[in-house]
Amino acid sequence: MDSAPHQWWQTGVVYQIYPRSFMDANGDGTGDLAGIQKRLDYLQWLGVDALWLSPIYPSPMADFGYDVANYVDVDPLFGHLDDFDRLLAEVHRRGMRLLLDFVPNHTSDQHPWFVASRASRENPWRDWYIWRDPMPNGGPPNNWTSFFGGDAWTLDPATGQYYLHLFDSRQPDLNWRRPEVRAAMYDAMHFWMERGVDGFRVDVMWLMVKDAQLRDNPPTPGWKLGDSPGTRQIMRYSADQPETHQIVREMRALLDGYGERVLIGEIYLPLPRLLTYYGDHLDEAHLPFNFQLVRLPWQAAVVRQAVEDYEAALPPGAWPNWVLSNHDNSRIASRISLAQARVAQMLLLMLRGTPTCYYGDELGMRDGAIPPELEVDPLAKLSPGYGRDPERTPMQWDASPNAGFSRATPWLPVGEDYPTVNVEAERSDPRSTLTLIRQLLALRRSLPALTVGSYRTASVTGDDLFLYLREADGQRMLVALNFGSAPRTVDASAVGSQGTVLLSTHLDREGVTDLTGLELRGDEGLVIQID
Ligand code: GLC
Repeated sequence: MDSAPHQWWQTGVVYQIYPRSFMDANGDGTGDLAGIQKRLDYLQWLGVDALWLSPIYPSPMADFGYDVANYVDVDPLFGHLDDFDRLLAEVHRRGMRLLLDFVPNHTSDQHPWFVASRASRENPWRDWYIWRDPMPNGGPPNNWTSFFGGDAWTLDPATGQYYLHLFDSRQPDLNWRRPEVRAAMYDAMHFWMERGVDGFRVDVMWLMVKDAQLRDNPPTPGWKLGDSPGTRQIMRYSADQPETHQIVREMRALLDGYGERVLIGEIYLPLPRLLTYYGDHLDEAHLPFNFQLVRLPWQAAVVRQAVEDYEAALPPGAWPNWVLSNHDNSRIASRISLAQARVAQMLLLMLRGTPTCYYGDELGMRDGAIPPELEVDPLAKLSPGYGRDPERTPMQWDASPNAGFSRATPWLPVGEDYPTVNVEAERSDPRSTLTLIRQLLALRRSLPALTVGSYRTASVTGDDLFLYLREADGQRMLVALNFGSAPRTVDASAVGSQGTVLLSTHLDREGVTDLTGLELRGDEGLVIQID
């Protein structure tokens, strides 16, 4: 691949901020926009390019902001619109970008549209949501289940009909078949585009449209109580409907009208279905989130195959992307060992395509231990054991009380390891995870082969090993990853006889190395320039 001009969202790195948990400036125990602004110098120092904020809109917080009660304002918990404008200006002043989370599938049950919709069967907003009569036996209109557990339908006794909610009952699904709904939501997107945001991460993009006849979903063979509620059914009729693509095209056209903005889609689908969201003419999402690294077992052969399959299946011209953690899944340093999490970070940041980093992962933050009485996630309450509070604990800034996150007791407890796993301590430690991530980001930025170069699996195999090449403008980089804790020696002479180690995940090794007998220590990843 050449290094022809790329867009910022192709060369840049996205950093996800969960605003409740990043930095509390006003001392109420919950993070806010002014807090994020205070920490922009840190993010710039770290070397990320675009900040994606999980929802900041007014919300009753039944699903912590993913239940929106007004799409064109800021929840007072986080600040006001002028705080937002200040934050955006400060982000831009630093040459960074700001992305918002857009939640089109459902609103809060407190949104004025739903309040009007549920008021009577006849009102003009009724059809903005999905209402149906009960079955003759009084039961729900079909067998669909919620991602959070239980039925996807709730009966509204006053009007005698059920409304659909693929998540919590306080998150009614909008009816995207109605042109008025589309128009109202696009108005909201215009509002933020006009204010200058650089793009959206669109929540549950693949769920926006439902089967017109609302047919029953087939059950997942072998599913049993206790398994994840989101996998209970094969969502043949409640997800990934063909009409969704038209909506995504409309969103994309809207963003394209503003120049270099980015449309990212949250989509949990198997690879062939996921890739359809780039659009037949690359006219849908710029980046349909690729969650393979979140989902797959951490085994060299499995990951290698996933990378190859993805690279091979990408439509021509489509730009790849990779995600390691987010606010809905256990953190990487809890899914695997901390030593392996560093290898995983090297993979994330040295693969071809746009990486998304989750706040705190750069420190090696782990899932917090949340005692049952402090659990707040609606998923934890509806489906015990599946709660997402552990991966949403406050950012660990320093060793002071509450990890420097807040003067008050935080909304979720701070991780127990904060006295040592924090920004201040790791910043001055030349071997820390933070130092590693910062160096990986700097390396990525400084070498075209790593920013925009081609990808090729190296034909060098061995237990626990995954080696690949990134190349651009005659520059060749070998990334060699040891997924195991035992040392390995490998003959990599197929790619060259000698190279120069630029970075080791152990941060203690640089310089010339022989590739015929390349030595990798346990849990070590290397970036090597081929001479
Ligand atoms: C997405 C969000 C998740 C939320 C759900 C419903 O999956 O990432 O946090 O609960 O949508 O909005």
